[in-house]
Amino acid sequence: MATADIGVYGLGTMGSALALNLADKGFRVAVTNRETDWIAPFVAEAGSLSDRITSADTVADFVAALVPPRVILCMIPSGPAMDGVIAKLRAHLDPGDTIIDGGNADFHDTRRRAAAFEDSNLHFVGMGVSGGEAGARHGPSMMVGGSAEAWARLRPMAEAIAARFRGDPCVAHLGPDGAGHFVKTVHNGIEYADMQMIAETYGVLRDGAGWGADRIGALFADWNGGPLQGFLTEITARVLRATDGDRALVDLIVDEAGQKGTGRWSVIEALRLGQSASTMEAAVAARAWSSERALRASGVLARPVPAVALAPGVLHDALLAGRIIGHAQGFRLLAAASDEFGWSLDLPRIAEIWRAGCIIRSALLDDLAVALRAAPEGQVILAPAIRDALARTVPALRATVAAAVTAGLPVPALSAALQWHDSLAQARGTTNLIQAQRDFFGHHGFRRSDRDGVQHGDWG
Ligand code: 6PG
Repeated sequence: MATADIGVYGLGTMGSALALNLADKGFRVAVTNRETDWIAPFVAEAGSLSDRITSADTVADFVAALVPPRVILCMIPSGPAMDGVIAKLRAHLDPGDTIIDGGNADFHDTRRRAAAFEDSNLHFVGMGVSGGEAGARHGPSMMVGGSAEAWARLRPMAEAIAARFRGDPCVAHLGPDGAGHFVKTVHNGIEYADMQMIAETYGVLRDGAGWGADRIGALFADWNGGPLQGFLTEITARVLRATDGDRALVDLIVDEAGQKGTGRWSVIEALRLGQSASTMEAAVAARAWSSERALRASGVLARPVPAVALAPGVLHDALLAGRIIGHAQGFRLLAAASDEFGWSLDLPRIAEIWRAGCIIRSALLDDLAVALRAAPEGQVILAPAIRDALARTVPALRATVAAAVTAGLPVPALSAALQWHDSLAQARGTTNLIQAQRDFFGHHGFRRSDRDGVQHGDWG
């Protein structure tokens, strides 16, 4: 009998947590999983919530358990597996039904899948979900792309399970097809940049000033009480102070970072759109370089003995400047994509739904939400409060990058942030020379400040 409000396909960490969150908010949830032996343990874990959960071993039973028009949330690894699940589900669906991909999908795939649904009267929604397992269970931030009709059906459930910032649910319908997944990708790009700048700051203190993990953790805990407040600052403090026996756990972890793709996609899309996401690029590069462990351990490349004497307050401000610039690049990228794909992204609303539930939630995002309401076209640094914060903190960023560079300590993302700032602070840049060179060897033409139209030089 069809009694369930929503179906969750995929009972991995995120799928299970979202299913429990939905049941917790009073919705009846049908669940299934490719490996059917995962289903019974999930239902057992649901405890008293299991009254609202219908489990199904087959796709046919799963779909039959849903009240039409059906809503099915797929929480499975992104990529080809999603196409397989869509094919399996489609055979059982009726016009008006909706499939939601809640994974970290490449938005190009989401656009392709949405286009393939166009003639069928079925809806395909790409929904970015941020907040990790705890967020999914107790309140994630969700970025939705798809038809208005599908959103109307999904909205009450999404708003009920979302994180709330002063009562405002952190979920929004951001546009058609791939808009939600694109915004989630940029969220992750900002996440990468922020994590990298935090790690660089940790490196300056650890290698440049000889601080132990516990002391650095205490500093981050202190910073979390001020303008750097945010989930990533908070967890950095906790991670740095975690121990294994008498050692800091972080000191035992191999310095080689993994990545699943979203950070890289942000950089690729930025380049495609003629934008710079240089802080994100630096973060992706740093993760890639981290895997060159043999080269790093060989000592073939020499550097000075690192020693940096910077007051913690300087590092604080440098990190804040870097965080602002990382977000500024992210919002600029969102604005460019919105123009390119005709999405009309509501940038202030995106900042608002990132204020709670997601990984990059922070005091800065609260400020950016206000700033973007005042200057919604995407250049967050033009908003007076943000411009003033940058003016206050960039000198510290410059001092930090200069000291780290002199000491041979890598700060690729902080440097990228500073270079972005200094390039945009320069009323007269140097690309006039690039234009001249291009015209010299390729007759590419240039514009002159004293004449109209495309010009060429007589290069002799
Ligand atoms: C989130 C996270 C989440 C996850 C990513 C990042 O918003 O909840 O961004 O989506 O942590 O998978 O993963 P990688 O660092 O492995 O690329």
